[in-house]
Amino acid sequence: MALMILPFIGSVSVSEGLLAVTTVCLAYLILKFFHADVPQGLRRLPGPRPLPIIGNLLELGSKPYESLTAMSRRYGDVFQIQIGARPVVVLSGGETVRRALIKQGDEFSGRPDLHSFKYINNGKSLAFSTDQAGVWRTRRKLAYSALRSFATLQSKNPEYACVLEEHVCKEGEYLLKQLNAVMEAEGSFDSYRYVVVSVANVICGICFGRRYDHDDQELLSLVTVSHEFNEVVGSGNPADFIPALRLLPSTKMKLFKSLNDRFNSFIQRIVTDHYATYDKDNIRDITDSLIDHCEDRKLDENSNVQLSDEKIVGIVNDLFGAGFDTVSTALSWSLMYMVAYPEIQERLHQEMKDKVGLDRTPLLADKANLPFLEAFILEMFRHSSFLPFTIPHCATKDTSLNGYFIPKDVCVFINQWQINHDPELWKDPFSFNPDRFLSADGAEVNKSEGEKVMVFGLGKRRCIGEFIARNEVYLFLAFLVQKLQFHSMPGVPLDMSPQYGLTMKHKPCRLRATMRSGVEK
Ligand code: HEM
Repeated sequence: MALMILPFIGSVSVSEGLLAVTTVCLAYLILKFFHADVPQGLRRLPGPRPLPIIGNLLELGSKPYESLTAMSRRYGDVFQIQIGARPVVVLSGGETVRRALIKQGDEFSGRPDLHSFKYINNGKSLAFSTDQAGVWRTRRKLAYSALRSFATLQSKNPEYACVLEEHVCKEGEYLLKQLNAVMEAEGSFDSYRYVVVSVANVICGICFGRRYDHDDQELLSLVTVSHEFNEVVGSGNPADFIPALRLLPSTKMKLFKSLNDRFNSFIQRIVTDHYATYDKDNIRDITDSLIDHCEDRKLDENSNVQLSDEKIVGIVNDLFGAGFDTVSTALSWSLMYMVAYPEIQERLHQEMKDKVGLDRTPLLADKANLPFLEAFILEMFRHSSFLPFTIPHCATKDTSLNGYFIPKDVCVFINQWQINHDPELWKDPFSFNPDRFLSADGAEVNKSEGEKVMVFGLGKRRCIGEFIARNEVYLFLAFLVQKLQFHSMPGVPLDMSPQYGLTMKHKPCRLRATMRSGVEK
């Protein structure tokens, strides 16, 4: 029947026609598969009417976090859109998201089977793969305990409370030297390019026991192109949902695959090196500790979840990837906000001068005495919401939320940006105002306000690097606020518009930095 209409489609070739018919049939079957019957007592999800083939793709636009926020005002905290033929449930509202991710945590803890995720860490990513719950949970526990023990390990240097503090303070010194040198040579610096190497070196130190020079071309070629990665894995990438699009040539996808290949072989080389020099009595870093775990597990006949060595040691790939991009994006946004609000930058420096002074490096122990800095970091997280959605989730079984039926395997987007800009939760949500997090006398941070900010996800999939990330952002910023003053380029307006992706960055931007008086170069 479908073939009978082909002669009427004039210039379309037979293969193009067949492709179109196959797509329509596939779309119909997928639609039928996903359009599950709603059990008695539950309601069908509301949402905008989808177009054939593309669904609601056009309505997502270039800022899906804004368009889905607008839809949540119309359809409520739980609604459904369709991308291509595939339904996606969108969750908004602090209470609803808490209910889904904490109270019903197991039911919303899966990851959907998305095309682009298959290329990350050769399909074996802890964060992006569709691993069964038992396998994912075991890997997550391993990753979390390795991160925690290596970051909080006591430093051999008595100046520092722990290894993380030592790494960040030392990288802060290198960063300062580098920024001064670039300022001298070029008169300005790229707000992301140097910060990202410093942050990558901290996680490299913890995972691989080594650091790289600011001009190391291989590291630079991996860490400065993360926008290509983020664009493809951002929620709502059309090719993840519409199979026919994968047949079209795509420069973006080519870059994404090549970046993943280079990233995987970079890590593989380091891991191979670690195997060659591994010594059970001298565990140097997280990679060694994971190799050690593989060795111990071979002796443990009672271990019930079987993981391959590759899946265990491959955890460092996730830790390194997640560890450099997110924290450097946070720092780069922080520099932009300081430049955009010079009076806030001055208050940050003044607080540092009053509470820590300019003669010694600020440490983790100073955090409680720097409430304005902490409030600034919370406001940067909230206002930028640079991770507008969590990584997509999926329902692990048929379930319900707020009385709506949610079928097993359906993809779920969690709109963190909506929560951080919800006028029900925040006064003047679009103004940048760190004071909103301070007590009336400005002496401390209001913890319960701080907990309303959502950037690390919640529940079972909540970020496992949160404690490292928060401390790293604080330490780097404290260091920079103490030593440098940042400025925009004269006559160049500051462009703070975010570029959509899993993590959103501002457009490339050059800034200037000058040493503060009273601090040594
Ligand atoms: C400011 C910095 C960071 C932010 C805003 C952030 C945010 C997030 C978010 C939103 C998720 C997804 C949660 C979900 O799917 O519901 C996540 C997952 C994850 N993060 Fe982070 N992250 C940061 C830093 C880090 C660091 C430093 C590491 C490791 C060193 C890390 C490791 C991970 C891992 C492994 C996952 C996957 C967890 C899982 O799927 O079970 N993150 N992070």
